[in-house]
Amino acid sequence: METPAGTMTETAAGTLSRTAPATTAETAEDGLARAFDAAVAADERIEPRDWMPEAYRATLVRQMAQHAHSEIIGMQPEANWITRAPSLRRKAILIAKVQDEAGHGLYLYSAAETLGTGRDELLDKLHTGRQKYSSIFNYPTLTWADVGAIGWLVDGAAITNQVPLCRCSYGPYARAMVRICKEESFHQRQGYELLLALSGGTPAQHAMAQDAVDRWWWPSLMMFGPPDDASAHSAQSMAWKIKRHSNDELRQRFVDICVPQAEALGLTLPDPDLRWNEERGRHDFGAIDWTEFQQVLKGNGPCNEQRITQRRRAHEEGAWVREAAAAYAAKREEVTAS
Ligand code: 3HC
Repeated sequence: METPAGTMTETAAGTLSRTAPATTAETAEDGLARAFDAAVAADERIEPRDWMPEAYRATLVRQMAQHAHSEIIGMQPEANWITRAPSLRRKAILIAKVQDEAGHGLYLYSAAETLGTGRDELLDKLHTGRQKYSSIFNYPTLTWADVGAIGWLVDGAAITNQVPLCRCSYGPYARAMVRICKEESFHQRQGYELLLALSGGTPAQHAMAQDAVDRWWWPSLMMFGPPDDASAHSAQSMAWKIKRHSNDELRQRFVDICVPQAEALGLTLPDPDLRWNEERGRHDFGAIDWTEFQQVLKGNGPCNEQRITQRRRAHEEGAWVREAAAAYAAKREEVTAS
């Protein structure tokens, strides 16, 4: 197949390789690398059977695994409120949302499998602390208003971060993100609507909404990752077009989006330094407590222990389901073969 970057050929291992026209003294690997770079530069998608640098593959697995883990761990703080939702309507919405997060985890683990990394291996790394999940899910959900704050702020931050991932250079990740973002957008709206109802309710309900926003605002800003000058992976990930924008750029976008939304909600963002900067055409905001972020990453957040213990328990208790599914698949294979 002719591509702008060169020609597609199939290797003995079944890997499709874009090959760029060779120059003298160039090894086969150099040619493949050049063709990969050209494909990324031309905004083409890299697909599972294409040749890719091992470091590109490893970076994708790292980011996609962290993302998948965040989705399934993220089910816990909200699931905590399913039995206590204040109405049948709210309960149905919350159940659907938590179920969506499980689905997002599945799309992402499947997308990571296309890079040759099995789900078992990734889950094992999560359970043994060798891979991370988002810092945000190590904070407790103390009141019903937290469900609204998570929807508005946490899902809102996730969308800001993830919409550009729909244009990620790796095809399966980019395609998974399209559906995830559509669903996240509903999640964000249900949170906003919940907070709007509380904010316009009794003084006690308004105070509960404000308290939730006060507690979730700063951790939501930390979701975008360390500042650009401390972000180990951003430069390379942006060069490979895995990430399209830096952590600070996305954080700034999120702040600019939230300020008018907070005004419409009748709630205050807990930052005395937050103000419009006419010259920059953006909002200035206060300093983030990066010590707190690092502590949460090290496992010392308010709920790290609880989240990982619950995840390991859920995995152990689900062993019989995995065994039954494997036995059923083996049986079907036997029937098909006979
Ligand atoms: N929580 C935990 N770890 C974080 C983090 C956070 N908020 N932000 C950064 N880190 C980690 C990185 O993973 C990296 O550690 P590692 O080398 O062990 O992987 C280290 O801190 C340095 O950060 P970098 O900025 O160099 O890392 P990245 O270039 O990978 O950028 C990121 C971090 C912006 C989070 C990026 O990985 C990303 O965009 N990931 C995809 C989106 C994602 O993971 N979202 C999770 C949010 S929650 C969610 O989606 C669930 C939804 O239901 C709300």
